[in-house]
Order: sequence, then structure tokens, then C-alpha cells
Amino acid sequence: MYRHRLLNGHSRQDIKLNLGSGTTRFPGWINIDGNFLHRPDMWLDVRRGLPFRDDAVKVIYSCHFFEHLYLGELKPLLVECKRVLRGDGALRIAVPNLRSAIVAYQKGDPAWFSPFPKDFLSLGGRFFNDMLCGDQHRIMFDLEFLAEVLADAGFREIHETRRGESRFLSSDDEALIQELAGDSGKVPDPWLLVETTS
Ligand SMILES: C[S@@+](CC[C@H](N)C(=O)[O-])C[C@H]1O[C@@H](n2cnc3c(N)ncnc32)[C@H](O)[C@@H]1O
Repeated sequence: MYRHRLLNGHSRQDIKLNLGSGTTRFPGWINIDGNFLHRPDMWLDVRRGLPFRDDAVKVIYSCHFFEHLYLGELKPLLVECKRVLRGDGALRIAVPNLRSAIVAYQKGDPAWFSPFPKDFLSLGGRFFNDMLCGDQHRIMFDLEFLAEVLADAGFREIHETRRGESRFLSSDDEALIQELAGDSGKVPDPWLLVETTS
């Protein structure tokens, strides 16, 4: 099935993967998710590996997925991302920004924190709820920690970036357009965005 999908609309030169796509599916990308109900192009638990050849993929994008992994699952998946990426390939990751949450906490700004999935009254409860999304998130990242785990998996040239800005995606790419929707007006930005090359 995957071979069928790959050969329909994705040349070997421009394979772009969206890991943990959820319902946010990008046209022209292979949208991968472990939840069948989100109707991904590829229904896959990515902790089991990525079914692509070495050096086959141009871009891997992942928005608000890596924080759902346990620490022990993180490096194997990043190593797998590096394996499938071309030499000139790139990885872009967005995760909740621990440093921004700490700044908002220290400012005593309850409105900064998301009320999803539970709308706590206390600042501590709101911090917990936002950073761990109830009990759905397993890891919290600041820039230095995310850069450390990426470097440990073999990635180089790790750069922090901003929503809608990229060194390798064009500004009209749906991935960047989607980033500018939602809670993009908050200061500091709740999202940590990093790009790295393989
Ligand atoms: C918070 S959602 C993010 C969805 C989308 N990227 C977005 O930004 O709106 C996290 C997604 O990761 C998926 N996911 C969680 N663990 C996964 C795994 N091991 N393999 C593949 N997908 C997984 C979930 O099904 C869910 O759709």
C-alpha cells in the first residue's frame, strides 16, 4: 500500500514527510499518523521506523508530535529520520516551548496558558496542563535540550526559527501557512521551532 501511495504523486526526488500529522494534512506531503481516524496517507506508529530507503526523503516536518514520545523513544526516531533524509535533506520540528512557558509563569500570566484539555484556575495547574497536555506529553523541550538530542542523533547545523520562516521550505508551503494560524499571536511564542540538516 505504501509503495502504491509513494508512486502516486511523490517522485523519489521530493518526498516530504509530515510525522504525527493528525488532521493537519499537507497537500503534496506524505502525512503520517498512528491514529487511523485522522485518515493519514500512511497509518503508522513511527516508533517502529520509517518505511523508506536510506537517503530517500527531502524534508521531514513534525508539529507538536515529538513531545508525545518517551525519552527512550526519541533518539531512535531521530536516528531513523537522519537515515531516511538525503544528504541535503532537512528536518523541521515544532514543540511546546518550555522557556516561553516559564517566562509566562514568572510573569503570572494565566491567560497565556492553553485551557485544553483542562481549564485549571491555578497558575501551576495551567502550566502543568499546557506543558504536559493533561498526561499526553512525555517530554518538555527548551532550545538547548532539543539541540542536544538532535546533535546526539547526528544532526548538524541546528537553528532556531520562527513560524512561517524557513531556510528550506518556500513561504507558500502549507506547513508554514498552518503555523501562522491558531495561537500565533501569543508573546512569548508557545512554540519552539527548530530546523536542522542531515
Ligand atoms: C498533538 S497531535 C499534532 C497533530 C498535528 N501535527 C498538528 O500540529 O495539528 C499529535 C499527533 O501525533 C500522533 N501520534 C502520536 N504518537 C504517534 C506515533 N507513535 N506514531 C505516529 N503518530 C503518532 C497522534 O495520533 C496525533 O495525531
